Amino acid sequence: MNLLAIAAETAAETETTQVVADYTYILSAFLFIMSLKWMSKVKTSRRGNYAGTAAMILAVVGTMIATHIEAEAYMWIFGAIALGGAIGIPMAVFMPMTAVPQRTALSHAFGGLAVGMVGIAKLLEFINAGQEIHTFIMVVLGAEILLGFLTFTGSMVAFAKLQELISSSPVLYPGRNFVTLTTFLVAIGSAVMLGIQPEVGPFLYALIISSLLVGVMLVMPIGGADMPTVIAILNAYAGLSASAMGFVLNNKLLIIAGALDGSSGLILAIIMCKAMNRSFLNVLFGGVGQTAAATAGTGEQRTVASYTPSDAAAILDTAKHVIIVPGYGMAVAQAQHTVKELYEELVSRKVKVQFAIHPVAGRMPGHMNVLLAEADIPYEALVELDEINPVFPEADVAIVLGANDVCNPAARTQKDSPLYGMPILNVDKAHTVMVVKRSLGSGFAGIDNELFYLDKTMMIFGDAKKVVTEVVNEVKNG
Ligand code: TAP
Repeated sequence: MNLLAIAAETAAETETTQVVADYTYILSAFLFIMSLKWMSKVKTSRRGNYAGTAAMILAVVGTMIATHIEAEAYMWIFGAIALGGAIGIPMAVFMPMTAVPQRTALSHAFGGLAVGMVGIAKLLEFINAGQEIHTFIMVVLGAEILLGFLTFTGSMVAFAKLQELISSSPVLYPGRNFVTLTTFLVAIGSAVMLGIQPEVGPFLYALIISSLLVGVMLVMPIGGADMPTVIAILNAYAGLSASAMGFVLNNKLLIIAGALDGSSGLILAIIMCKAMNRSFLNVLFGGVGQTAAATAGTGEQRTVASYTPSDAAAILDTAKHVIIVPGYGMAVAQAQHTVKELYEELVSRKVKVQFAIHPVAGRMPGHMNVLLAEADIPYEALVELDEINPVFPEADVAIVLGANDVCNPAARTQKDSPLYGMPILNVDKAHTVMVVKRSLGSGFAGIDNELFYLDKTMMIFGDAKKVVTEVVNEVKNG
């Protein structure tokens, strides 16, 4: 009787715990979805970030509530959290913003590795218990291990290319698609054989090794130029593998969060391909990025008109409408705070000042938005490509600050240019164009820029921060 009462009490307790965990998961899923929605707008992106963090904390807490964890296992869990935090927090704080793409690649790599290892652990659990594996579970388990491990090695290669630990050029050899496809099929075949005959043996090793190899084979043929797009695709793979893990572990939140991660990574990759005029399929299967620098340096001597910050200040003194076009050089020079000073000075003189934001200016999605937000430049002043392009003809001055490819008119006219077809900011339509950069050097695509040679263009050579500081001083004193 007593035993029955204890059993009933335990069952009721388990039920209550499950209900609490379920509600925690629902709240977490809601916050994950809202986080994506908020992060898609500059104005609400901070809120999105907080919502995502809260969702992840709730997911961990919910899992701890729902799972019966032995007391001593907590030591391992909190030990792992402390170790991860000790590595992750300094990385987030000290890595420069320009290194965010490779930092993201590292995060994906370890996320993928963790997913792959959980998959192997689950598989071993089935094998050790001598249990038959249901076909559906084997399919998702195979997908989890394959995607997890290929995300790991693919992201490590992306990291090495971006950090220039290895050459960023595409590695191409005849028959590479055949080799990649064969290795992929070996992974699938091994997973099928493991489903039929679950045991620790050649098929398990073949699954792990071929999955790791596929990751390397997918990313090696892609040039450094397309690495950020590849990272978005790897993000999608990591999400899909986590979603598969959700099916294996019967965890609904993991399925939802993984699917959100997978689909948003894919959408981002497609948007980036469009903004850089790349074929999505090429980036997916490799062999792109080798066109960069193809047309650099024709050997032809051309002249440009060089001006001083004081000349620029004189023109700005009479301007009524100024559009600032930030690019990678502004990030390198860390000129955003000085740009804010220029913005405030001009606005105080009743000048209309707007910032033209190209989706792939800089080296990562939203690079310019982040820098300008860091300098507290009002969101309303930031205008996206489609909206600002019709406005350029009305602007008295366009200041191109460390940007190059994103405003190269060759993208509109030169069919043989690697930039041809890429949507650009129509800076050349403004009345006067000021280009601030250190030399006549090319941008990321490695090609010359017609903009520098136009009659309306004033080249102001120097570091972006130094030049803008001098312009601000001249404007204030002028
Ligand atoms: P880029 O075309 O790369 O040009 C940047 C320019 O900044 C260079 O020409 C450089 O000229 C100048 N610069 C460098 N340091 C500077 C400094 N301290 N002060 C002043 N200028 C400096 O930049 P962009 O126009 O932003 O275009 C981005 C490129 O990156 C595009 O081709 C895009 O496709 C590619 N890309 C973007 C992404 C994402 S997601 N944003 C990802 C991968 C690739 P000097 O050396 O003469 O100073």
